Amino acid sequence: MPLVVLVGAQWGDEGKGKLVDHFAGEADVVVRFQGGNNAGHTLVVDDDQVIVHLIPSGILHPKKLCLIGNGVVIDPAVLCGEIEELRAKGYFGDEKRLVISFRAHLIMPYHRRLDLASESRKGENKIGTTGRGIGPAYADKMSRTGLRFHHLLDPERLPERIRAVVAEKNAFLEQVLEEPPLDAEEVAAEFLGYAQRLGGYAGDVSRILEEELGQGRKVLFEGAQGTMLDIDHGTYPFVTSSNTVAGAACTGAGIGPRQIDQVVGISKAYTTRVGGGPFPTELKDETGERLRERGGEYGATTGRPRRCGWLDAFGLRYARRVNGLTDLMITKLDVLTGLNPIRVGVGYRHRGRMLEDYPPDLETLSECEPVWEELPGWDESLRACRSFASLPPPAQAYVKWIEQKVGVPVAAISVGPEREETIVLRHPFLS
Ligand code: IMP
Repeated sequence: MPLVVLVGAQWGDEGKGKLVDHFAGEADVVVRFQGGNNAGHTLVVDDDQVIVHLIPSGILHPKKLCLIGNGVVIDPAVLCGEIEELRAKGYFGDEKRLVISFRAHLIMPYHRRLDLASESRKGENKIGTTGRGIGPAYADKMSRTGLRFHHLLDPERLPERIRAVVAEKNAFLEQVLEEPPLDAEEVAAEFLGYAQRLGGYAGDVSRILEEELGQGRKVLFEGAQGTMLDIDHGTYPFVTSSNTVAGAACTGAGIGPRQIDQVVGISKAYTTRVGGGPFPTELKDETGERLRERGGEYGATTGRPRRCGWLDAFGLRYARRVNGLTDLMITKLDVLTGLNPIRVGVGYRHRGRMLEDYPPDLETLSECEPVWEELPGWDESLRACRSFASLPPPAQAYVKWIEQKVGVPVAAISVGPEREETIVLRHPFLS
């Protein structure tokens, strides 16, 4: 299949980076299409850990073309740091391997300030954002006041543009939020520096994709965050500010829906969530603690401990629908070793009534109780398993059960953080 979109089916942190890195070996092009440096994809190669926030995970493979689409919001300081780190580790030999859409929006210093200020004003009701300025940057995009990557290519007019928008933001910062203003000249000087360092990566991602697909190249779209954090389909308002579902690959990179061949959803064998918001299958007990410790469930971007709970098959069925999933990949199955029995949420009960659909409103969702099913666990370590048949029978049964409940075939299972600790049942590019 030449064009595969890979998305998170839960609240992010499903281990997409590892699987993208694994399957990127067979792809020619890897594309980011939404989100920004709120994402953190942890990759482990030969015991070396690399965390990328903006650059597609395919960068660790030599010769892959990595594209950042128009749907991504870019913090140039973070991008520069990432390029330097990858270069220092020897992963960034050829500069032409990275292209950033002219149309991608920039995260500006005032976006970070507004993000943090708005969170602290919300007090108990805060969303628990990553504080990277993501929401305010997307808000400016929709308000049509954002700065875009192509503006960096026009250094003569850049300071003037920055001065105008900083004046407006300063009025809001000072008068509404009672925050100190930003120095427009400092911001302008900083961004002129980025213009020099990053201007060479700018390009027309949509056109490049058309050319690559025309030549029969294989393209992997790498989603960030997850379905339940989608601005429309997620647990609003405890969501991120972009569309994270598969359809966003079209708008976020400039391709048509008919070009997508396969949509792969990634889910952990259990569930995690960072930040605030409802989480019906959450475990606030020893089992939750154990999942956190065994699964290393601490944010790759912020280091925050992740909330942990059992798998939510009801949520996954919803994710199947809003993404049009053709395949499912299960990560961190090894983390469940030693837990017996394993519980799974199969439905939500609200005030004694079983819900047919995932509730749209926070009030109902926060009052939902999961309906559980129990499955037998196993004690064996799974990390050496390389085929489905080599998994202990209860682990095989667990995967088959998920497949049946969610209604999507499982294409791969991850049993450890290393690239090769992966069982592939159906390779997205080789089937
Ligand atoms: P923001 O994207 O920084 O605005 O944060 C909004 C919500 O999305 C918060 O609950 C964050 O914890 C969550 N979030 C954002 N990016 C990620 C991610 O990559 N993984 C998991 N959660 C995320």
